Amino acid sequence: MAAVRSFTKEEISKHSSPHNLYLVIHGKVYDCTKFVNKHPGGEEVILEVAGQDATEPYDEVGHSEDADRLLRSYYIGDLQEQVSIPNPIATPTLLSVANIILDVRTPSQRHRNPPHGLAPFYQTLVLLC
Ligand code: HEM
Repeated sequence: MAAVRSFTKEEISKHSSPHNLYLVIHGKVYDCTKFVNKHPGGEEVILEVAGQDATEPYDEVGHSEDADRLLRSYYIGDLQEQVSIPNPIATPTLLSVANIILDVRTPSQRHRNPPHGLAPFYQTLVLLC
């Protein structure tokens, strides 16, 4: 079986003309170039979402099962998921540095253990910024 092609949003956005037209619907990418001028709902509505995610407008119309079947015949691949991977080292380190500088604690914690040397100074500085 052939591997499923994966497209970035940027790549898809380049296919936004009537002669080269991709749509994303529910995370799947469709090449609708040959269909755009045959669309029973008119060319205009498809051109408006050319090269973009058309899930909402497609669903809002309440397309028939025939329409869904037709859509599947234009399937060319999937939208590449954009996952932001948090840096596991940087995030906690930044938080603890901020904590040390700003002395981010609850009032009762602060009462038990008064602020260290420069914390009040840095706090005032941040408030002034
Ligand atoms: C490749 C994608 C699409 C396919 C295969 C498709 C297919 C169809 C078909 C077969 C119909 C006739 C009615 C039905 O069977 O449901 C239709 C009607 C319609 N479509 Fe699409 N459509 C597509 C995309 C879109 C998009 C993205 C929009 C909106 C932005 C849209 C808006 C409409 C409208 C307004 C009608 C007329 C509905 C009516 O008169 O009741 N279509 N479409």
